[in-house]
Amino acid sequence: MRRLLPACPTDLGRPTDLGRPTDLGRPADPAGADTSWDPDTLEGLAAVYAYPGPTGPGRPWLRANMVSALDGAARLDGFSEGLSGAADKRIFGVLRALADVVLVGAETVRSEGYRPARAREAFAEARAALGQAPAPAIAVVTRSLDLDLSAPLFTEPLLPTVVITAESAPAAARRAAAAVTDLVVAGDEQVDPAAAVRALTERGWTRLLTEGGPRLLGQLAAAGLLDELCLSLAPLVTVGEAPRIMHGPVAAEIQRMELRSLLEEDGFLFARYTRPS
Ligand SMILES: NC(=O)c1ccc[n+]([C@@H]2O[C@H](COP(=O)([O-])OP(=O)(O)OC[C@H]3O[C@@H](n4cnc5c(N)ncnc54)[C@H](OP(=O)(O)O)[C@@H]3O)[C@@H](O)[C@H]2O)c1
Repeated sequence: MRRLLPACPTDLGRPTDLGRPTDLGRPADPAGADTSWDPDTLEGLAAVYAYPGPTGPGRPWLRANMVSALDGAARLDGFSEGLSGAADKRIFGVLRALADVVLVGAETVRSEGYRPARAREAFAEARAALGQAPAPAIAVVTRSLDLDLSAPLFTEPLLPTVVITAESAPAAARRAAAAVTDLVVAGDEQVDPAAAVRALTERGWTRLLTEGGPRLLGQLAAAGLLDELCLSLAPLVTVGEAPRIMHGPVAAEIQRMELRSLLEEDGFLFARYTRPS
């Protein structure tokens, strides 16, 4: 994997970022001698994607991780799998390993057959040092509560799966979900994205990761909640009618983002954009 940006660690953002512990618990090395800056190592990849330090007491940082084709398609034949590749999967795994919780829309859970996040030995020490559970929780946004509650996502998670729904959800389905999940009601007709994020923060989670899908991510971004986008650009032209990675009504405010890092492998580009500091 090639690191295109920053060309060397000293270029990594504001000077105050340097020397601050990364989420793997080691300080960034301004001299660039530290091999943990090699994105071909798990450690180096984790350093590239380290969450920023605390931005305020209890203040969350919401990052999204999405893959897109060159033409903007967010899925191929109904799944994101067709757009992915080996490096994308490595980054996907690292982003999960750094997160406290993964927020995801119910359609992605249903179509991609979501399972609980797994604990990874390589990250065990760093997570424990940060007071994180061995693996992130999964939080599913749904109004219908049309979920298979007998699936491993609900029966075998390390941390109880959070289900975020609205008052308008069917009462019987709410009772069934409450019996096996950490059920949150965050909105009347629909889930209010800000209330959903607040509910996660109230559980002590500040390193938030959303894996979409496009409809959920569109709402999070339109509500001004998105701090970071980790975008994998697949070298594929697909054409067709697939949605873009954020799908929904036009945002009231167009948000400008700043490019923080750019990696390349096999023609794929892996960009990390954050809101301006
Ligand atoms: N390219 C990528 O990186 C990427 C990432 C993820 C997914 N995908 C692909 O995207 C597709 C799924 O994405 P999607 O955009 O159709 O769906 P999605 O965002 O994953 O989920 C939409 C569902 O989430 C629930 N939901 C969303 N907002 C809500 C709100 N405000 N209140 C209550 N419930 C809400 C609803 O669930 P209920 O219907 O249960 O009420 C809604 O049907 C799949 O094909 C998947 O493979 C691609």
